Amino acid sequence: MNILILGSGGRESAFAWKISQSPKCQKLFIAPGNAGTKQYGTNVNLKVTDFAGIKTFVLSNDINLVLVGPEEPLVKGVHDFFLADEQLKGIPVVGPQQEAAQLEGSKDFSKQFMQKHNIPTAAYKTFTKDTLQDGLTYLATAGLPVVLKADGLAAGKGVLICLTLEEAQQELVEMLAEAKFGEASSSVVVEQFLQGIELSVFVMTDGTHYKILPEAKDYKRIGEGDTGLNTGGMGSVSPVPFADAAFMQKVEEKVIIPTIEGLKKDNIPYKGFIFIGLMNTNGEPWVIEYNCRMGDPETESVMPRIESDFIELLLGVAEGNLNEKELTISPKTAATVVMVAGGYPGEYLKNKVITGTENVRESIVFHAGTGTDGENVISTGGRILAITTLQDSMFTALQQATADASRIYYDGMYFRRDIGFDLL
Ligand code: AMP
Ligand code: GLY
Repeated sequence: MNILILGSGGRESAFAWKISQSPKCQKLFIAPGNAGTKQYGTNVNLKVTDFAGIKTFVLSNDINLVLVGPEEPLVKGVHDFFLADEQLKGIPVVGPQQEAAQLEGSKDFSKQFMQKHNIPTAAYKTFTKDTLQDGLTYLATAGLPVVLKADGLAAGKGVLICLTLEEAQQELVEMLAEAKFGEASSSVVVEQFLQGIELSVFVMTDGTHYKILPEAKDYKRIGEGDTGLNTGGMGSVSPVPFADAAFMQKVEEKVIIPTIEGLKKDNIPYKGFIFIGLMNTNGEPWVIEYNCRMGDPETESVMPRIESDFIELLLGVAEGNLNEKELTISPKTAATVVMVAGGYPGEYLKNKVITGTENVRESIVFHAGTGTDGENVISTGGRILAITTLQDSMFTALQQATADASRIYYDGMYFRRDIGFDLL
């Protein structure tokens, strides 16, 4: 089979690494990919939202399946574009259509969906510019802390946790009346703050059947001890010790089954991944958010634990027979340490030469924001590399991933040395 992966980050590197190991994989293309994805396939110089360009490429390269990494092309309707095109409609796309992608693309849509299908989530109300006054009154009764979420995609920045009423009211005014996050905050979800510990649960579905992939914990803050600014993710670990069998059974019964059944009841087709951001509150799962794609850097910890042929699973999604496919998961622990640019998540250094990857011993070096200057591998993004180790013991995995990260160098190099150690 010839497969095209859309995307260029660590997540897509992990997909490419895994897919390239399948005996079913003939040609693998990654658009646009990065300096590391070239080890697994051929990079294609195409933007993930250039649907016309993707069409030309898919047809001229005899692509049999398209795997979509990031949310943007899904929310913009890449899957619908394929289905509406005579020449493309027979080529399966893994990643939901536009309507289902609203589970990530609109917080209000996802909250309404959860409420309708009795999926545990924080109490909420949605406000617009026209109902700003009601919003300010609601905040006064809502209890603190309170969470404000821009309805639309805001590059991971649209969620504010407010500790005082004054702050919450001011932010609501800025979001609704002053378009703090542009169009994304023309609607704002105000929700109750959930106390607990977070984890990411991943489901693969063909719209009827589902498989639960390994869960993971992601570390979002830039600083050790979970301090400082939010980032796209500084590391991840899978499995998550507190997500034991009893907890995961609750997740399946109270969240996953109602989600899949809810999509069916609402006649929303879904072929792809559902990423469920959960809060574990005293052993009970509460949904914080849905994403219509896999997580990054969670995918870098999830893929190495999947022992089965990943192309078979993708085909199961595409063909609607996921129930007939095997999913074997390694009991080992995967730990991922993300190496970022100096200054990230603020203004950060770019085009720095990366050295030392050849000294890495036990880990897989997944590239994220990398490119080449013709001769050297250089940094091009905030998150540069994701270093993943799979080991029998969690402690060894955490230690090894950290040790291997320190064998790599670039000007301004930074990574967290505490990823996962809180879970031991
Ligand atoms: P989101 O963009 O929805 O993933 O939210 C970003 C982060 O805000 C989440 O990963 C949580 O850490 C936090 N968060 C969002 N909603 C809540 C909530 N209701 N209670 C507590 N924390 C939340
Ligand atoms: N790691 C969180 C995300 O991918 O959104």
